[in-house]
Amino acid sequence: MGFYSTAMDAVMEYTGLSPAGFFTILALMVVVYKMVCGMFVGPEEFDQKHREITMPGPAAVPEPVQLGDVTEEELRAYDGSDPRKPLLMAIKGQIYDVSRSRMFYGPGGPYAMFTGRDPSRALALMSFNREDLTGNIEGLSSDELEVLQDWEYKFMEKYEKVGRIVLEKSTNNNTENGGNIKEKENGAVEE
Ligand code: HEM
Repeated sequence: MGFYSTAMDAVMEYTGLSPAGFFTILALMVVVYKMVCGMFVGPEEFDQKHREITMPGPAAVPEPVQLGDVTEEELRAYDGSDPRKPLLMAIKGQIYDVSRSRMFYGPGGPYAMFTGRDPSRALALMSFNREDLTGNIEGLSSDELEVLQDWEYKFMEKYEKVGRIVLEKSTNNNTENGGNIKEKENGAVEE
């Protein structure tokens, strides 16, 4: 009894308000304080929000699009220099969409030199030499061809095949003219 009534008397004496009025005003002040605090964010939260805005997560990789037959020269356009185009790479003349592994094949990636090309020879020889960045696999040993085969299996499993390299574009650009297409030793086709 003693403490409660002393406290209520003190409230009335100092504020001139009834205890009910005083506590209602106090509650309202707490609510307003909380609302105003909610309008601001702390430095950590601000940092996180800022990072979300300025550094959006990895962009979604578009679905692979079938290209059909392209020449080696046309394939070069898919080397990552145009960010709107997929990243393509060929093994034994078969073209794969490697866009989902941009960290390997995109500009600045460790294997960017393979992109937009058929680097079968380099893969077979495990070489980064410029002269090996070719689909020409003539003169390779059976062990080297086996290494290349393993790469091909890996790519077949991991990436979608979207086309193949032809030496020249046929005028009607179709692959159903059976007898007119001749696969070269490196997989590139000749019509
Ligand atoms: C210094 C030696 C090398 C190291 C330490 C190394 C390391 C790696 C690692 C850690 C990966 C990622 C594997 C994965 O997560 O699937 C990788 C992928 C790859 N490496 Fe190497 N590598 C080396 C040499 C080479 C060479 C000489 C070639 C061919 C000339 C090569 C071609 C590749 C390719 C094509 C991939 C990507 C495969 C894919 O698309 O999944 N690497 N390498």
